[in-house]
Amino acid sequence: MSHGFKILSAEQAAELINNGETIGFSGFTPAGAAKAVPTAIAKKAEREHAAGRPFKIGVVTGASTGPSLDGALTKADAVSWRTPYQSNADLRKAVNGGAIRFFDMHLSMTPQAVNYGFLGKFQWAIVEAADLTADGEIVPSTSVGASPTFCHVADKIIVELNKHHPKTLRGFHDIYEPANPPHRLPIPIVKPSDRVGTPFIKVDPQKIIAVVETDLPDEIKGFDAPDAVTDQIGQNVADFLAAEVQAGRIPREFLPIQSGVGNIANAVLGSLGKHPGIPPFEMFTEVVQDAVIDLMKTGKVKFATGTSLTVSADKLQEIYADLEFFRTRLLLRPQEITNHPEMVRRLGIITVNTAIEADLFGNINSTHILGKNLMNGVGGSGDFTRNGYISIFTCPSVAKGGKITSIVPMVSHTDHNEHSVQVLITERGIADLRGKTPKERAALIIEKCAHPDYQAQLRGYLDKYLTQGHIPQSLEAALAMHRQFAATGDMRGVDWTKFGN
Ligand code: COA
Repeated sequence: MSHGFKILSAEQAAELINNGETIGFSGFTPAGAAKAVPTAIAKKAEREHAAGRPFKIGVVTGASTGPSLDGALTKADAVSWRTPYQSNADLRKAVNGGAIRFFDMHLSMTPQAVNYGFLGKFQWAIVEAADLTADGEIVPSTSVGASPTFCHVADKIIVELNKHHPKTLRGFHDIYEPANPPHRLPIPIVKPSDRVGTPFIKVDPQKIIAVVETDLPDEIKGFDAPDAVTDQIGQNVADFLAAEVQAGRIPREFLPIQSGVGNIANAVLGSLGKHPGIPPFEMFTEVVQDAVIDLMKTGKVKFATGTSLTVSADKLQEIYADLEFFRTRLLLRPQEITNHPEMVRRLGIITVNTAIEADLFGNINSTHILGKNLMNGVGGSGDFTRNGYISIFTCPSVAKGGKITSIVPMVSHTDHNEHSVQVLITERGIADLRGKTPKERAALIIEKCAHPDYQAQLRGYLDKYLTQGHIPQSLEAALAMHRQFAATGDMRGVDWTKFGN
């Protein structure tokens, strides 16, 4: 049945957008992102700039998007400010160079920040849909993200109706939006598969100004095949969790897993799937990546709910070819729900996220290289880590061919602190930090997680400052390894005798 809304080309839709407006776009790592209209807005920006007129917009999404949104708008110098997360090389460069105002947010908090008015007025929501009805039912495509909130707060909506996704995706989403305080009620989800909302975003049809019809695939890069290091990290996570089941600290029926973004997270899940000591499990997570789909087929993952289906193009076609198999096993929810602290605590979620660097005391940097340059953003890692049943961080023990140790005396930027991080795992081993003092943690992390090239150096630091304070930290030497890397390109060989306390 026809939706009956006005159909415009992407170029015509872009003409409706004015300089200085704020737009909430659909898109999450970068599944389900609006693509045609942002690319056309970028072209409009170039025309406006060529004519000597200013043209920049505020860009808010669920999370990262691809070349058609963040890439095109950045290249056209069309972004005045951006939140909450990104992973696009051009945008990252513009942020780190100071050309774009970016602020990094916990993803569970983005929708409520928008709702509360903390990010100002939204003129537009531009969202991708798999289906749309005349009475304003928008069925999202491969992600939900913050789209329900954008649609409700924005004055006007443009829907990119993308026939790359089947209309039969209706039923794969559960849209529930908490009311604003003081009217907020408990979220009535008590197990991962509970449905508590509607299978579509319901909007006032009068707000839908235009529909742009597209046939565009998601711009998901796919994942690197696991290598020896990521395989071993995954094996260590699986060994740790299997031992926790044996010890009775995780119930025999297991608990829902949250797994972070990127190659390491994808490899970790693959290892969990192979481990005989891990029973079939459910996932309550933010992104559903390729490995989850493979594990569903083997029966190891019984059910997964997330806010995005961040799978490679081939994997998505596998899902679409067997949609009925996945209909009872996959459910997409708003990021406000998948990442909600209330959910993470109540369901007892085991959280597994990736660090850029970790320090000897359990503080984690997930976002900024050498404390300065943004990589992607905090994403949902803080939502899950702070509230998890067991919160685990993984990373390779070294980066850049061994010139950087991921285990340092003090992280150069803190995203997750020692109070929230319970277990640290590298390819070298497992440091279980629960119930340990800072000094005990440091000794354990050096022994179990640090690379042999750096163990003596890190021990040297700890030994030198061991008698000082509750946390044996030297304000003079704590960042000496980072400073040496900045100067020489290598963290090895720092001489602690040169430093005072
Ligand atoms: N210093 C400098 N660079 C480092 C580094 C360090 N200590 N550790 C890693 N890197 C670099 C790697 O060399 C690599 O660089 P390259 O792209 O130039 O090759 C890059 O960081 C990514 O590392 P990689 O090993 O490929 O990891 P990944 O794809 O698993 O991503 C994070 C790791 C931390 C960047 C990613 O997980 C992330 O953005 N996390 C924050 C958000 C999050 O956790 N979301 C999940 C919530 S559900």
